[in-house]
Parts: sequence; structure tokens; C-alpha cells
Amino acid sequence: MEKTIRCPNCSKTTTCTGSPGETKKLTCPSCGAIGKVTFEDIKDSTSEPALVSLRNISKRYKDILAVDNVSFDIKQGEIFGYIGPNGAGKTTTIKIMVGLLNKTSGNLSINGYQMPEQKEHAHRFIGYMPQEVGFQKWRTTNHALTTFGKLSGMNNTSIQQRIDENLKLLNLTEYKHKKISKLSGGTIQKLGIVQALLHNPKLLILDEPLSGLDPESRYQVKKILKELSNNGTTVFFSSHILSDVEDVATKICILDWGHIVKIGSLDELKSEFLKENQIELILSKRSDKFNEIGKISGVQKIIEKSSQKILVNIEKTGDTDEIIHNIIKTLMENNCRIRSITPTEPSLDEVYQYYLRKGGVKQ
Ligand SMILES: Nc1ncnc2c1ncn2[C@@H]1O[C@H](COP(=O)(O)OP(=O)(O)OP(=O)(O)O)[C@@H](O)[C@H]1O
Ligand SMILES: [Mg+2]
Repeated sequence: MEKTIRCPNCSKTTTCTGSPGETKKLTCPSCGAIGKVTFEDIKDSTSEPALVSLRNISKRYKDILAVDNVSFDIKQGEIFGYIGPNGAGKTTTIKIMVGLLNKTSGNLSINGYQMPEQKEHAHRFIGYMPQEVGFQKWRTTNHALTTFGKLSGMNNTSIQQRIDENLKLLNLTEYKHKKISKLSGGTIQKLGIVQALLHNPKLLILDEPLSGLDPESRYQVKKILKELSNNGTTVFFSSHILSDVEDVATKICILDWGHIVKIGSLDELKSEFLKENQIELILSKRSDKFNEIGKISGVQKIIEKSSQKILVNIEKTGDTDEIIHNIIKTLMENNCRIRSITPTEPSLDEVYQYYLRKGGVKQ
């Protein structure tokens, strides 16, 4: 980056270049005065709104094209869900993002730093949890986490403070002095999250953080991710648990065979999928008379899910309120007692299957 400096001695301006976060010694070309100039860590948000930017990233392992021309941006505070079948290329993308693998081609920047060239700078902002959390089994929790803290360049006092804070956050305080070999798989998985959070990173990159966790722990981790995001932390995570992605992700990217099949918010992903409006009817007592609603103008299809649960597809272009009113009227006229009537939306699971079936449509 470039910076124009006014010399405090002679007031003449001069331009110098450096990397974000770098402090340079500078000699004024006019008067020879010597000073220091620091290049800001974070680029101006108007010039670089994306915290992470991937442009045409590809990765080839010999004859396998694991990541195929992937481009996306992640903005600060976003919770970005990265989903796709086994072998789609999620972990490969993540390893490139954290600098563990070299890309074959493309451009990647994190917080303004080019990867992998400036990964030492970028690493200060990244908290990473790998798919296989690898703590040495003979260490205690505290010992293992302290080692990670030191590797992140933290001092001993803040390491202990952050270990205590984050063990408490994930309800793991009781395991602080236990050996890793004595812990359950789910507990080790959660320790992986503690380790990623240790140096208070601006960007969390988590490879399947929710796999292997019981429902309560998943709820707890999702809550933590939302709180972190509300406080400005950016979260990128991969997962196969689509209901969890649906619960927390503000942006979702579906990857298949290394390339992006679809990317957008949940609503954006659903909008193409929704070919018609659908409502769910639950009757309090079984009655075949519900079929009468098939005669109503605007009702396209009736799907009997069970004896009392019926799905009704109505025209997308029709007057939904009028059609629902007529459905209720017709049911009442036919003595069908209604327990509930609700518009239905596809789940992320249905949307995901839809885009994968459509398959291979590159964005
Ligand atoms: N070190 C490697 N050498 C060769 N091929 C590899 C290597 N690592 C991954 N692959 C291949 O690259 C492709 C993408 O793998 P990757 O691990 O990125 O997928 P994934 O989406 O994370 O899958 P999963 O959901 O199973 O974790 C797969 O075909 C895999 O076999
Ligand atoms: Mg993986």
C-alpha cells in the first residue's frame, strides 16, 4: 500500500510504499529528517469491503482438480457456511485460506494481505480449527492450549486468561487439568474451538466445527458463533449438518466437484427453488372432504402427507390471501376442523439437493 507523509520538520510531502502492519524508517528527501511511518493493519473499509477475497482459486493434486476456479468474498461480521458433498473441495479451500496449502492458481487476500506471500501477517487475524483436531494425547488441556497460545505469539498472562475465559465459554473448565487422552471425541472437538478462539481472532475459519457434537453442544456453539459475529468477528465454517448452517449462516456457498454450484443468503438460495407457494394444512380429525379445496381457483396441487397433514400448492402469481381465505371457507363448509394452516418454506436440505441435482451449473 501507498502512503503520503508530510514531514514534521520541513512540511514537504513524500510518498512511500509498504505492507499493511509494517513500520518503516523514512528519510525526508527534502531536509534529510529521519522518522518512522506505520502502514495501517486494516485497509479502509470503503476501498476493501471484503475481509476475505478469493478470486479464481484452483488447486490441482496431480490428476484431481480439487478446487476449480472458486471466487467469493467474505465481509466482516458475516457467518459464511461452506457446504458440499464429501470430496467437494471444502477442506482444500480452507487449507489454502489458512496458508497450509499452496493454490495452483488464483488470488487470495485476507484483511488486505496477499496469501500465501504475506501469511505471517494474515495469521495474526486468523483462528483456525482443522477438520481433524490434532492435540497431542499425552498433554493436559491446559498444556496443549498453552502451547498453541505460545505459537500464536501470546504472552503467558494473556494465554492463561484466554484459556480460562474460553474453557468457561464452552463449559469445559472441569477438563483444564485432564489429559487429552481421557477426553471424549466431542470434548476434544470443542477444545479445537477454544484453541481457535485463543488469540481473539478477527476471522475464525472452522472446518466442520459441529460434527461429532451432541445437540446441546451444537446449540451452544451456534450461539457462540452468533455472538462472535454480532461483536464483529467473521466466521467461515464448513459443515454437513445443513440445519445448523441454516440456523447461523448469513451467507451460504454450495460446492460440488470443486466448483461453486450456488452462493447467496438462504433467502436467495430458496427464491429460485420456490416454483410455487405452498401451505401446510393440519386437520384435527381425518376427513376426505379436504379434497374439495382442489376446486378452488388458484389451488394447483394437493399432496396428502398423512391422514391429517396436507400440503397445498397454490399459484405463485395468485392472490395468496384470497386463496387461503377460500381454502378455510371451503374446509369449514365441509366440516373439516382445522388445527393449523401455515405457509411452508423449503429447508436448506431440500434447497441443497435441488442445486446438486441441477448440478454443475457454474456461477
Ligand atoms: N493430499 C491430497 N492428495 C491428493 N488428493 C487429495 C488430497 N487431499 C484431498 N484430495 C482430494 O481432493 C478432493 C477434495 O478433498 P477435500 O478434502 O477438500 O474435500 P471435502 O469437501 O473437505 O470433503 P469432506 O466433506 O469429506 O471433508 C477429493 O477428491 C480428495 O480425494
Ligand atoms: Mg473436509
